[in-house]
Parts: sequence; structure tokens; C-alpha cells
Amino acid sequence: MKFFVDTAEIDQIKELNDLGMVDGVTTNPSLIAKSGRDILEVTKEICDIVSGPVSAEVVALDADTMLAEGRKLAKIADNIAVKVPLTWAGLKTCKALSDDGIMVNVTLCFSANQAILAAKAGATFISPFIGRLDDLNMDGLDLIEDIRTIYDNYGFETNILAASIRSANHMSECAKIGADVATAPPAVIKAMANHVLTDKGLAGFMADVEKAGIKIL
Ligand code: E4P
Repeated sequence: MKFFVDTAEIDQIKELNDLGMVDGVTTNPSLIAKSGRDILEVTKEICDIVSGPVSAEVVALDADTMLAEGRKLAKIADNIAVKVPLTWAGLKTCKALSDDGIMVNVTLCFSANQAILAAKAGATFISPFIGRLDDLNMDGLDLIEDIRTIYDNYGFETNILAASIRSANHMSECAKIGADVATAPPAVIKAMANHVLTDKGLAGFMADVEKAGIKIL
């Protein structure tokens, strides 16, 4: 499973990218707003750091303006994936951009039916939002599983990009289901390294290092 990092914070992207943990980046208008940066500038900077797909989201609601925005975003770099919302206008934009050979990430997906339409419209990525479904007491992981089954049944090539990930557990569950990509905030990716038994085991080893005066350097 590929890891995309869900942030527009340059330092965090650099740190994870240097460790080989970043296969791509996702941003959205809220993350751009949080960064306090100009969307075109910060997106260009991210594309210069990361070689994999970098999702940049349109902000218009009608198809014509979305298409113009998408084409402008795509000019930033070859690794841009234009992100469009899963609306009828977004699907029209997805089809037009995909026909032009531009990568498209269809976002705000909350149902299997929506994911089928995105695949039909030629999406490179479909972004089902796990956490926001969980917030409503629904099971976001069930949606990932349903989309995996449907895409496999019919050989749809659209990549399942599990999004709105809130915990380290979501990451391993998505990997078990067979999501192609999971995008997560830097803190969630780092939390994957944590285990209480690792901490306990290390504390025991350190006590023995102290007791025996073990030195390597
Ligand atoms: C990524 O593409 C999404 O925009 C992001 O994962 C949404 O996450 P949130 O539901 O935590 O805002």
C-alpha cells in the first residue's frame, strides 16, 4: 500500500519524504488555508520535493470553472493530480481532464455508487472518507471493502485512496482490505511506530544497560 501524506506543511512533508515514507501528497482547501500559503506557490514547492502524485483541489462548483482551474493546477508540475469533488460537475471535469491525460483524484466519496461513477469517469484515484463516516457511527472501512470488491469484479483501474484517516489502526486495516493508497496526517503515520510493549521492552533493556554499564561508543 502506498502512503500519501495529507498536509500542506512543507517541513513535515520533507521529514517523511527523507525517510522514504511518502509516495505522494494530498491537500484540500482546508489544509491550504491552515498552511497560510498561496495555493499555487505551496503546491509547486511540494511538487519539487515529492516525485509521486500531489493532489491539488479545485475550488469552483461549476464544471466549466472547475475545468479551467484544473488545467491551471495541472500546469504546476507533471505530478499534479487535480482533485475534484464527487458532484455531477466534478465527474464532468474528471472525464475532461482524464481525457487530456491529467491525473484526477475524485474526493468526498461516501458511497460505493459514487465510487462506481468516478471509475466510469476515468478517475485515477477515488478518495473514500473513512473518518467522516465513522464520525456518524457508520463504518468507513466497510466502504473501502465494498469499493475494493466492486473495482475487482469489473477490473476498474481507478486506485482506491483511503482518506480521512484518523488512527494508526485505520492504516493497517486499509492495507488488509487492499486499498491501493492511504493518505494520513503526519501524526498518524508517526503513530504507526508506537507500541506499549516496545516502550516497556526498551525500558527493561535500558535498566540492564545502566546496571551492567554497557557501552558501545
Ligand atoms: C484527503 O484527501 C482528504 O481531504 C482528507 O483526508 C480529509 O480528512 P479529514 O476528514 O480528517 O478532514
